[in-house]
Amino acid sequence: MGVNKITVVGAGNVGATTAHIAATRKLGDIVLIDIVKGLAEGKALDMAEAGPVQGYSCKITGTTDWAQAQDSSIVVITSGLARKPGMSRDDLLAKNVQIVKDVSEKVARYCPKAIVIVVSNPLDAMVYVASKVTRFAKSRVMGMAGALDVARFCHFVATELNVSSEDIRGILMGGHGDDMVPLPRFTTVAGIPITELLPKETIARLIERARKGGIEIVDLLGSSAYYAPAAGVVKMAEAITSDSCSVIPCCAYCQKEYNVGGYFVGVPAVLGKTGVEKIVELNLNADECKELDVSVSHVKDLVAKVDKLL
Ligand code: 2OP
Repeated sequence: MGVNKITVVGAGNVGATTAHIAATRKLGDIVLIDIVKGLAEGKALDMAEAGPVQGYSCKITGTTDWAQAQDSSIVVITSGLARKPGMSRDDLLAKNVQIVKDVSEKVARYCPKAIVIVVSNPLDAMVYVASKVTRFAKSRVMGMAGALDVARFCHFVATELNVSSEDIRGILMGGHGDDMVPLPRFTTVAGIPITELLPKETIARLIERARKGGIEIVDLLGSSAYYAPAAGVVKMAEAITSDSCSVIPCCAYCQKEYNVGGYFVGVPAVLGKTGVEKIVELNLNADECKELDVSVSHVKDLVAKVDKLL
């Protein structure tokens, strides 16, 4: 196989940062696409010019032309409106359904063999749009949310305990909304569950902060986060390009898994060269199951709304 080609759709903050991190991680050649003339071209050129300093020499193309995306092995969809203060992710639904639908049609036409990673919000519903419109095998369509949400949770845990965040591993499930389900029993510091290290009330506070992690940034910046979201996307893309079979929480299609019944929701997934290779099924306790059910039913409501708009 030749060099991987990774197409990032949308040259806004998340898209451009994804492209840049992917270049520094040497994932392959990068194509950055945007409908705004000059935006992707300018950012791609700027990134390429950083290559001699940062030690990468992949081809980075910025374009408005989908023909450049042909034969991509991975397409990352970041297109769509981002939140402003006071907005929930769900407020973006109607606009972003149309945008992600248009982009997905292009993906199906120009990149029929690609694995698709969706980042647009509301995330779980947008993954459904991409799956429905591209008609790709469900294992080749996924969304980036868990990798970000769990990174936030791990950062908060590390700060609370004053330990290295690199020692923290976590799992988080459900939709990318305020009812996402961080799992303290499966969040460890160098293998030690945080339930052994932190009082219940502290864990509850950190969970709440992770759930509101997106809006915390929106309130500070006036727009959405991008460093951590982009890092999450590249982590997933790297698991795919290197076929590492890493276990990463992400939005993946679940039929019988967790009794979800045919929806894309956040679950721990094994990512490798075919996309979602497998979903890891944890033995959740009654409380965890209840929380997951609430979150999944919210995703189902959003998908019902999408079906009316598509
Ligand atoms: C966030 O949580 C962008 O939804 C994203 O910051």
